[in-house]
Amino acid sequence: MHTEVAVLKLSPSQAESLHHHAVQLARAGGPQCAGIRERAEAHAHVLRDMLDSEQRAVVDGYASNRITLLVVEGMLEVGDGVPEARPSLEALKMDLDCLVLASRSQLLLNLAGNRAFAYDLDYNEMVRLVGNFKGGGQHKIPEEPAPEDVEVSSHSGLALGAHTEPPHYCSFQATERHSPAPSTLILTARWNPLQEPTQVIPITPVLKALGEPVVDALTRKHYQFTRPNSYVPGDEDGRHVSIVDYNNHGDFAFRFSAYRFSACDGVPENSRRAIDALQAGITNAERLQVTLDSSKAILINNTKALHCRDIIKDNRRILVRLFGYNRFSTAIVQSTDPMLVKA
Ligand SMILES: [Fe+2]
Repeated sequence: MHTEVAVLKLSPSQAESLHHHAVQLARAGGPQCAGIRERAEAHAHVLRDMLDSEQRAVVDGYASNRITLLVVEGMLEVGDGVPEARPSLEALKMDLDCLVLASRSQLLLNLAGNRAFAYDLDYNEMVRLVGNFKGGGQHKIPEEPAPEDVEVSSHSGLALGAHTEPPHYCSFQATERHSPAPSTLILTARWNPLQEPTQVIPITPVLKALGEPVVDALTRKHYQFTRPNSYVPGDEDGRHVSIVDYNNHGDFAFRFSAYRFSACDGVPENSRRAIDALQAGITNAERLQVTLDSSKAILINNTKALHCRDIIKDNRRILVRLFGYNRFSTAIVQSTDPMLVKA
């Protein structure tokens, strides 16, 4: 049985325990530091023992890749009020409250059967602070670049079309050269003064409506994508990739970006038509809206849902993001603590 949205609501004592452990991990340096991985896993076990049977069924369902979006509610708020102006990215990277949120997210990933990791192309950083640091939002930043120079990434304020998190080469199993896309991205908010939502688009109903022949075409390696310009130089565009993959458990994974994918030259007409149909299906699909604050986190199943956002209005909106792999994913691991994989 597949569930689109599940909610894990923590009791006050569970929330207290989670917060306490997250603060401990943050004080010890947070997800990027050696030794934290093991402690987070141990804390997640403690937390798991505090869950009732219904809550356990929810986290196990997510771990089994049977839930598209897991909303975690009832957590303690972290930090105090919204500042006058957004601190710099450098200051936020050192901010203890950001680190508490990141550590809490690492614990939640573990609780939901995922392990936190970083790609080598994200400068090896486990924690990504999502906000308008590079311009393109509704309100200009002091160093606002010319519109054509704004990078299309989670560090700008631009609206972002529907996408799954890259890399887009494969899901589940690493190829010779590339690790899979993340199984999960977990998001929470440091500040979200205007309650600007994050949008999630479950793909299962879209694929169902498109029908077997179209989905079959999407499993062929007839597609290509352009590389994100936030990546470190040297990474190239992807060619001859599929959009849908099946694993040998009969489960599927989906990878796509509405603004980066196209059909390769010379592919059959039905492959071309399939991607057009997919684009239309996503445009018309139901969008789930989640408004994040520091007491709420979402685990987006990156194999079953796209996400997107509107242009950032309040420049103090800061989200904290980590990636996770579930037990079905095998990556090209470069180091295990902290876990770093080759993109
Ligand atoms: Fe994204």
